[in-house]
Amino acid sequence: MAQDYSLMARPAHQQDGTSVSRRIYLSPPDVGPAEEASILAAVRSGWVAPDGPDLAAFERELADRVGSGHAVGVSSGTAALHLALTVIGAGPGSVVVVPTMTFVATANVVRYTGAEPVFVDCDAATGHLDPELLPPLLRRLREQGRRVAAVMTVDLNGGCADYDRILPACADFDVPLVEDSAQALGASWRGRNAGTFGRLGVFSFNGNKVMTTSSGGMLVSDDGDLIDRARHLATQAREPVAHYEHRQVGYNYRLSNLLAALGRAQLRRLNGMIERRRAIRERYAKFFAAVPGTRILGDGDPGSNCWLTTLVVDPARAGWRADELAAHLARHDIETRPMFKPMHQQPAHRGHEAVLSGAADRLFATGVSLPSGSTLLGADADRLFGALDEFLAAR
Ligand SMILES: Cc1ncc(COP(=O)(O)O)c(C=O)c1O
Repeated sequence: MAQDYSLMARPAHQQDGTSVSRRIYLSPPDVGPAEEASILAAVRSGWVAPDGPDLAAFERELADRVGSGHAVGVSSGTAALHLALTVIGAGPGSVVVVPTMTFVATANVVRYTGAEPVFVDCDAATGHLDPELLPPLLRRLREQGRRVAAVMTVDLNGGCADYDRILPACADFDVPLVEDSAQALGASWRGRNAGTFGRLGVFSFNGNKVMTTSSGGMLVSDDGDLIDRARHLATQAREPVAHYEHRQVGYNYRLSNLLAALGRAQLRRLNGMIERRRAIRERYAKFFAAVPGTRILGDGDPGSNCWLTTLVVDPARAGWRADELAAHLARHDIETRPMFKPMHQQPAHRGHEAVLSGAADRLFATGVSLPSGSTLLGADADRLFGALDEFLAAR
């Protein structure tokens, strides 16, 4: 099933807090009066442009929040990833290591640059890049004389990858890390914030993320030169002279000032929204603890922002399959989504090298992501858990 942004991004609540419809969405936006006031103030300020004081302030506030030296706001997480790979030097003749268990944007941006992706399987318990597979791969690529422009990690479902093992592997082979933290704003690993482990980190503010600018992204780094180059490329690579002068081919990737105003209001509410997602994750964990053959992907990670909760079902032990649960919830007008289909299985990326253990294929076959949004409260949450009770009672 295709990822359907229109479904996920549809508002779940009206201004007065009542439901627009009975449908329970996977991860809808959580916006209200604070966001409305912030956008209105930006409109009234006259800065209705892909630049302005809200954008500058949003970049500073987000960099401070994650503990990164520099940030540039762009039109999507995908644009941020594309810029990250471009400034790190990915291009024709180079290789980029990519987790196969991810959303397609992580792989697409490698192809945009002309570099070649090499897909790597995931850890079965967490879904993150399997650190066991990384050193032998980097050794082999070196022996083959191939230039590895970057290793990309994905902080899947809002939890950090295993940086205890991935960072030393990157250091041993002198390969820069680009961290796709699109799903993980506000998460941490051993006290360090998601997005700060690599030379560059990327966040997405798509409508389905922990916070949104409707569409938007941010590239962060402690290296100010990399961020300056990314900002230059994001503004059509325009040279600082009176006429339009361009020495490089750039992109129109900047975030609009109005959307940055929305982002600033969301950022102020980020901690509260993450707490709500965590409470939902804990309710699922408690509920499924007594259900044989089920587990929550990446459960027990205290630093996760709990963006999405994915249930993994072993049909032999549970006596039912993940897709049967999804069909039951769909009949109750409750949205779910299968786990990400691995990149090595995607027709768009077929034929590229992949180092596989089978873990990602199994997760795709047995995982279902459940409603996880911060607007899932009260009666809606009770209705969801009632539907889960009903499903299990009938098994
Ligand atoms: C892991 C991952 N990378 C990249 C992206 C792309 O972000 P955007 O939709 O803002 O372009 C997303 C989400 O959409 C994602 O989940």
